[in-house]
Amino acid sequence: EGNRALDIAKLAAQTGHITLDDGYANTGSTASRITFVDGEKGVLRYRGYRVEELAERCDFTETSYLLIHGELPSAEQLEEFRTNVRQHTLLHEGMKQIFAGFPPDAHPMAILSSVVGALAIYCHDSLDPADEEQQELAIYRMLAKMPTIAAFSYKQSIGQPFIYPENRLTYCQNFLQMMFAVPSERYEMDPAFVDALNLVLILHADHGQNCSTSAVRMVGSSTVNLFSSISAGICALWGALHGGANEACINMLEMILNDGRNLGKYIDKARDSNDPFRLMGFGHRVYKNYDPRAKVIKEVCHRLLENHGQEDPLFELAQELEEVALNDSYFVDRKLYPNVDFYSGIIYRVMGIPKNMYTVLFALGRLPGWIAHWREMHLAPNMRIHRPRQVYMGHSERDFVPLIKR
Ligand code: SDX
Repeated sequence: EGNRALDIAKLAAQTGHITLDDGYANTGSTASRITFVDGEKGVLRYRGYRVEELAERCDFTETSYLLIHGELPSAEQLEEFRTNVRQHTLLHEGMKQIFAGFPPDAHPMAILSSVVGALAIYCHDSLDPADEEQQELAIYRMLAKMPTIAAFSYKQSIGQPFIYPENRLTYCQNFLQMMFAVPSERYEMDPAFVDALNLVLILHADHGQNCSTSAVRMVGSSTVNLFSSISAGICALWGALHGGANEACINMLEMILNDGRNLGKYIDKARDSNDPFRLMGFGHRVYKNYDPRAKVIKEVCHRLLENHGQEDPLFELAQELEEVALNDSYFVDRKLYPNVDFYSGIIYRVMGIPKNMYTVLFALGRLPGWIAHWREMHLAPNMRIHRPRQVYMGHSERDFVPLIKR
């Protein structure tokens, strides 16, 4: 695909120099065969397949298989994968006590990273990444239990009873049921929401060496178990500059709406280098064109709102904001376009998903990507612990000063 790189594996040994690249904007951390992103053209492919086509023709479980195993599954392989995932959807009953210990206003991302980390306690027979069988079992358990943990964290936050997974349902049906069903009533699943959730999870499934995937690889390179590596990825994703931007974007749109839809004021704030305010959901380290995922998500917003006879003032506002920004030199000069987080919150609003769960949905989508990269790293013949160098800029050696003299 025309990627060009300088292999500097012997640079320090041969020249006594290292490279320095804050934020790794110019540094490749690995060679990978999973996802291709062309930031200039706005292209995203999983294992060679265009993400738009996968979102249209696959479901999330099939896409997860593709990312993790590298090929689209046959009907038999897919059925076996689905069955293996379904068998592990329950949590150990003891894990429910962990949820009970969290206060009602605990952020679901903090709950998710904590309880996923606790899987290393309850699933202690699948911790060794070097053992193929344990690795495979850990992958099924992680894929299967994430929706359950995510839904339980929501139920805990609203004081409703946990709804257990039902293995006759698909991955997305199961998640929606665990999120919104209550024991006292029959839950009517909206097929349009199931389709929208499948599509959104597929669009979030992987994106190369982004911050959270790099965190999973970094932590996983110490040969710690999959659950602890994924917990680290969840923590990285929560940041507002990364996956937390979907929640931050809706907060920003609500703020602008409540401030008299004063778009100009916020565009000026975003342009002002002395003002920390940024347009959430805008800009990207790699995309210097429209994020292809944002295009699809925007279309789904239109379709969902229309089909449900709803209008969302935030969606109208987001489109106006996009229009103004894309005609403003500050954004045009810096090639700042809407990214995956700009419209995704609108879809979640239509589905009745609360704001503090938006990044949890991002984590649910990104999980197969994190797993695929963790597995690719462990299968690589030359896997080494990740340990970057530094340029030391601190004090030279100096004499100790006793407390009495300070
Ligand atoms: C995701 O890496 C991935 O692949 C991530 C992701 C994935 O799928 O994993 O795609 C998901 O995290 C999407 C990004 C979600 N984050 C946001 O929407 C937060 C808002 N965006 C920015 O903070 C920013 O654009 C980043 C963090 C996304 C990218 O930051 P970079 O690459 O470090 O770019 P930068 O901060 O150096 O910005 C370059 C210039 C700066 O201006 P100058 O110093 O040149 O004058 O653009 C400006 C920035 O101030 N800028 C913005 C801006 N984003 C960049 N100005 C206003 N609003 C913004 N959103």
